[in-house]
Amino acid sequence: MQRLYGERTEYKGEHLLESTAPADPFLLFDAWLADAFIAKERGVLPEPTAMVIATCVDDQPSTRTVLLKSVSDEGFTFFTNYNSRKGSELSRNRNVALLFGWYPVHRQVRAEGTAELVPRAESEAYFASRPRESQLAAWASEQSSTLASLDELSNAYAAAERRFQGVSVPCPEHWGGYRVIPTMIEFWQGQPSRLHDRLLYRRAGLTWNRSRLAP
Ligand SMILES: Cc1cc2nc3c(=O)[nH]c(=O)nc-3n(C[C@H](O)[C@H](O)[C@H](O)COP(=O)(O)O)c2cc1C
Repeated sequence: MQRLYGERTEYKGEHLLESTAPADPFLLFDAWLADAFIAKERGVLPEPTAMVIATCVDDQPSTRTVLLKSVSDEGFTFFTNYNSRKGSELSRNRNVALLFGWYPVHRQVRAEGTAELVPRAESEAYFASRPRESQLAAWASEQSSTLASLDELSNAYAAAERRFQGVSVPCPEHWGGYRVIPTMIEFWQGQPSRLHDRLLYRRAGLTWNRSRLAP
């Protein structure tokens, strides 16, 4: 057994205060995302846009990391294969949870809500902006299916290269975005002595109610 009882980090940061935090959680999210990018530039936070998304079917939750590709007051958008495990789970249950673990800056953001398909034109526009290798990989990989071997994947990639030789790679029908429309967003700022700040925003019609949670 590897016991990790002694492993701990002392957290600290500017207090998250009701008096200064914006009433709109997306404004606070934007500010924290900007701080995460600054931390990336300083070389301490490698993936500011990485978020963990949890889906749940038949009482069995599952999680995986995806990359945030846009955020607005509508919600958090990521792109994936609609036939993947997450895609098939989302077609059965649209309720999701999200987590941004910005550990080097002692921060965490959680959200819960529903995932909607993004409009087709938006998926196609984003797909067109991706590197060609990523576009070909979207055709080659039947995400979450079992592969007989590594060769099967490289052969599928080579087949996609041949298929689209000399032409631009279109967005596959089975590939596109989801937008997570949150009903709640919680911001966590680590503080000394484990007396962390937690501000919870709950959607209330067109506005948000805010409360402080015990750490
Ligand atoms: C840093 C990081 C970023 C990732 N970004 C994405 C992404 O944006 N979209 C995606 O489909 N998978 C992404 N993945 C892979 C997923 O975590 C996961 O392996 C894949 O989507 C299959 O998940 P599923 O079988 O639950 O559908 C990423 C993984 C990591 C570690």
